[in-house]
Amino acid sequence: MSSTKIFKGDIVFTTTPERFTLIENGFIVVVNGKVDNVYTVLPETYKNFQITDYSNKLIIPGMNDLHCHASQFKHLGMAMDKELIPWLNDYTFPEESRFKDTEYSKRIYGKFIKEIWKQGTTRIALFATVHKNSSMDLIELFINSGLGAFVGKVNMDTNCPPYICETLESSLEDTEEMIIKYKDRSSLVKPIITPRFVPSCSSELLKGLGELSIKYNVPVQSHLSENRNEIAWVKELFPALKYYGDVYNKFNLFGQTPTLMAHCSFSSDEEIALMKENNVMAVHCPSSNLNVGSGMMPIRKFLDNNIRLGFGSDISGGHTCSIFKTMVYAIQVSKLFWANSNKEISFLSNPEAFYIATKGGGSFFGKVGSFEKDYEFDALIIDDSNLNYANYTLEQRLERFIYVGDDRHILHRYVSGNLIEEPKGIA
Ligand code: GUN
Ligand code: FE
Repeated sequence: MSSTKIFKGDIVFTTTPERFTLIENGFIVVVNGKVDNVYTVLPETYKNFQITDYSNKLIIPGMNDLHCHASQFKHLGMAMDKELIPWLNDYTFPEESRFKDTEYSKRIYGKFIKEIWKQGTTRIALFATVHKNSSMDLIELFINSGLGAFVGKVNMDTNCPPYICETLESSLEDTEEMIIKYKDRSSLVKPIITPRFVPSCSSELLKGLGELSIKYNVPVQSHLSENRNEIAWVKELFPALKYYGDVYNKFNLFGQTPTLMAHCSFSSDEEIALMKENNVMAVHCPSSNLNVGSGMMPIRKFLDNNIRLGFGSDISGGHTCSIFKTMVYAIQVSKLFWANSNKEISFLSNPEAFYIATKGGGSFFGKVGSFEKDYEFDALIIDDSNLNYANYTLEQRLERFIYVGDDRHILHRYVSGNLIEEPKGIA
């Protein structure tokens, strides 16, 4: 049976990075969870339909977080005093090793999912840990929540402490088991192949993961060119390959199926060209890059080269799950490039940042992140009445909410047309 829902409010979305589409007091007609049309005046045909009235509230697309480690949630806002490799060894690997215990992992994952719900994230790409059972629990949690997610069991079989290191065989077997179990279970929650990064994977593991990605047509996520020492290490490990991304590419993990690469702070022109050719999405994680002291991603270069872009919170390198705050950090970092280039490299505009957070990142999940026809109705209802003054334009209201608003202003969240209540966790 077909279901039609009509929402009324102050609508903002982007169809292109250049400008907002703004409809004050407008209507969104949603049929079977997908946008059918957006109107300034509701046509007569709908005169007997019930309307969900969000007058004076903002209706915007949900936030998409394209890179996040659910397993690092307990370290949010801590342990910021080391750069990437020592940070992993001294803080992150010991914490992730605790996820062998599924009682512990359920507790942390339960808190994590409530937090991202609270912050207005409606779809997310996640790293779990190497542990199969707790990774599968994380998938179940997302299925129960109604939020959208790609969930990756992390793969690592070398250059890591024994308490968190897999064998080649178990890493591949566990990954395949999870793919088989969950690839068709849910339209919103799916597995994703997740080599941690090149240094923690043997060539055999990378080869096996590339084969699995093609065999089951499963997407891939990893880290790329995040930190200078890490890049030098990859060069030592694979001296014959031209650049970092070339390693993933050699093993069919670089766009052979849909692929997310987080950071790309130091990607060479060649690496960027291959991302373009292979339709690999770059995920900008400015909060993490600042906290872990990794570097600054030159986002304008990626936009100029038409590379697909999304934002990532990268918890717990990043210290906030809010993609709104991530937008602000991205704009601020882009202003450093602007200032340092004698204003030659233009900084991110508000519609550009908003586009990346919504339609740009959303494209990894299908038709997600806009209110154009046939897009999934993923939306946030924002009550900005205590932020807003009578003479503000709709665009100014949105800007102010992004900069100084928070979860208290988010009234409701929708995914694929369904109202999503606060996740309960699993028993
Ligand atoms: N590179 C490999 N693992 C990680 C991680 O957990 N966080 C970040 N920021 N970079 C990584
Ligand atoms: Fe990361």
